[in-house]
Amino acid sequence: MEKAKHLAILAIESSCDESAAAVLDERRGLLAHRVFSQVDLHRIYGGVVPELASRDHVRRLLPLVRAVLGDAGLLAESPDTRVRLREGALHGIAYTAGPGLVGALLTGAALGRSLAYAWGLPAIGVHHLEGHLLAVLLEDDPPPFPHIALLVSGGHTMLIEVEGIGRYRVLGETRDDAAGEAFDKTAKLLDLPYPGGPELARLAESGRAGAFEFPRPMLDRPGLELSFSGLKTAVLHAVRGRAMTDRVRADVAWAVQEAIVETLTVKAVRALEETDLDALVVCGGVGANRRLRERLAEALRARGARVYHPRLEFCTDNAAMIGAAGLARLKAGEHDDLGIAARAQWPLESLRPLPG
Ligand code: KG4
Ligand code: ZN
Repeated sequence: MEKAKHLAILAIESSCDESAAAVLDERRGLLAHRVFSQVDLHRIYGGVVPELASRDHVRRLLPLVRAVLGDAGLLAESPDTRVRLREGALHGIAYTAGPGLVGALLTGAALGRSLAYAWGLPAIGVHHLEGHLLAVLLEDDPPPFPHIALLVSGGHTMLIEVEGIGRYRVLGETRDDAAGEAFDKTAKLLDLPYPGGPELARLAESGRAGAFEFPRPMLDRPGLELSFSGLKTAVLHAVRGRAMTDRVRADVAWAVQEAIVETLTVKAVRALEETDLDALVVCGGVGANRRLRERLAEALRARGARVYHPRLEFCTDNAAMIGAAGLARLKAGEHDDLGIAARAQWPLESLRPLPG
């Protein structure tokens, strides 16, 4: 009798300023993953420089791929420097096809598809946000479907009803800045180094409640739309002409974080109420924020609902989440043709729903 095949996949992420690779096995789980962050490269510019990001991905990706294949024990002895796979070790290659910086995406797409071609494997172009949404499936205690996802990253802030893999209904999103952008821009006003989000969160820990109060946009209106662009203007007004002592900076950081966190918490709870669901997944880089985790846990406990998080390292960009999405799509028989594709824009709701 033929042994039931369990699929293994190599995944590559390069949509912004993290180069990452991972190996995921349907039965044995995550076998290896590595992330190389380019933050040191971009810090002096105060933000990601797209062309530098692409060039660095070209340098980093192949060594990362070789390293994770080695970590996962999938490499065969090679008489030369070529990467040789053990027979039958992989069944597909997933790469982030968009949305993101198009040059950066193309480096991962070109590598993923070239390896797929060389090794005779299917290539699967994964939607970066589907990766963030499915990162939580890598945990031991995954959420049930349907659930609500609060996807909060540097480029996106969305409340999504997740009925199943590929079945996403966007209930509300930001009209302007993303939550991560709001953290990063206000951090800049406080002279914090890039990337500002985690730095602002750290500074807020020594801030005092009540010293400053910033607006919570859209809270007084019904619906699930969000807006964060007014926050940086409010912070600008508050700090103008004021001596920026360490105490003042920490108090401002506290108030900024509180305004963002409260807005996200109220809207997430409202999404659960409106859909009558009781499971919330928080994903994307801002999902690593400790205060947001605390406030959501409190608010959901009070309603008898539950919040699920990917582990911290899978909130920010990584390839394990691309593997999770890629593996689900490979199992459903999906793969690309052999052209090299990347999309700077890609509506989440245009994805093909998977059965189940
Ligand atoms: O998901 P991600 O790694 O990349 C995108 O796809 O955008 O998210 C990065 C964003 C940045 O804006 C960063 O400042 C923010 O997530 N971030 C945080 C924290 N960690 C990362 N914001 C607030 N608190 C944190 N602890
Ligand atoms: Zn991301």
